[in-house]
Amino acid sequence: MAVRRLHPEQPTSFEFTPENLAWAQATMTKYPQGQQASAVIPLLWRAQEQHEGWLPEPAIRYVAEMLGMAYIRVYEIATFYTMFQLSPVGKIAHVQVCGTTPCMLRGSEDLITVCKRKIAKTPHELSADGNFSWEEVECLGSCANAPMVQIWKDTYEDLTAESFEGVLDAFAAGNPPDPGSQTGRRASCPSAGPTTLREYATAMPSAAATQPAAVETSLVAEIAQPAAVISDDAKPVALEAPRDGKADDLKRISGVGPKLENTLNTLGIYHFDQIAQWGPETIAWVDNYLSFKGRIDREDWIAQAKALAAEKSD
Ligand code: FES
Repeated sequence: MAVRRLHPEQPTSFEFTPENLAWAQATMTKYPQGQQASAVIPLLWRAQEQHEGWLPEPAIRYVAEMLGMAYIRVYEIATFYTMFQLSPVGKIAHVQVCGTTPCMLRGSEDLITVCKRKIAKTPHELSADGNFSWEEVECLGSCANAPMVQIWKDTYEDLTAESFEGVLDAFAAGNPPDPGSQTGRRASCPSAGPTTLREYATAMPSAAATQPAAVETSLVAEIAQPAAVISDDAKPVALEAPRDGKADDLKRISGVGPKLENTLNTLGIYHFDQIAQWGPETIAWVDNYLSFKGRIDREDWIAQAKALAAEKSD
C-alpha cells in the first residue's frame, strides 16, 4: 500500500455546515456517554463528503476537537483507512481499483490500464478536466465478484476492461449505472448457476415432503424460492405529488443520490417525514424493491429522515 500523506496544499480552516453539525451532534448521541470517540469514522466521512470528497487537515483537527480526542489518534485513523482521501479527488468520480490477489487474477490490471488511459497516468492525479481520479487499493470485500472497483460508497463488480469503460462513460454522462455486478448476477451467486444442493432444487416440489430433517426442508424451500415475498401491504404510503408542489431534497439523506431520489419520487415519496414514518416492514419492502441488501438500515435512513424532518419544522 502506498504511503499516505496529507496534501501539501490545505485550506486554512474547516467547520461543518449547520446541517452537518446537527447530524454530527445527533450521531454522537448514539454512543454511550464517554464513548463519543466511537463516532470518529462517520464524522470524518461526513467531513469528507462536505469537502468535495477529500479530507483536509483542518477537518481532521476539527473532528478531533469535537470528539475530545488527541489529534494524533484521528490523524492515524484518517491516514490508515483508504476510504479517506487525503488529496483532492475527481469531482464526478474517484475510482478505487482493488488490486489484491483475487481481483488481480481476474483482471484488475486491465482495469488499471483503463484508468491510466482514460483518467490519468498516475494514481491520485486528477484527469485533465478535474472530473475523475483513481487509485489502487487493497481488498474491498467483493472478492467473489472480482474484479471490482469502488466509486464513492458503491461497488461495481464482475468487470471487464470494456464494461468498466462503460461504467466510467456513464458517470461522465451524469447517469451512473446501478451498483453491484455488471453482468447481472445477484450478490455473489455462482456465475454459471447453482453448483451445490442441486439435487434438492431439481427434486422440488416432491422432495420437500420426504426430507426428514427440518433444516433440509428449509434448505429446499430456500432454493425453490430464494427471494423473500414481501406483502404489498408494507408498501410505503405514497403521495400523488409533493405537498405545496415542493418536494424535500431527499439527496440530503446520506446514501441517496439523484437517481435514487428520482426512484423514490416515482414511488410517491417526496418528503423526509414520509421516510421517517417507515417501520421495519416498509423498510424491508423498499429494501427489497431497490435490491439494497440492508442498506437502509445500515445507513440509518430513518434517523436521518427524522432529524431532517425535525430541522424543517423548526
Ligand atoms: S480481492 Fe478484490 S475485492 Fe477482495
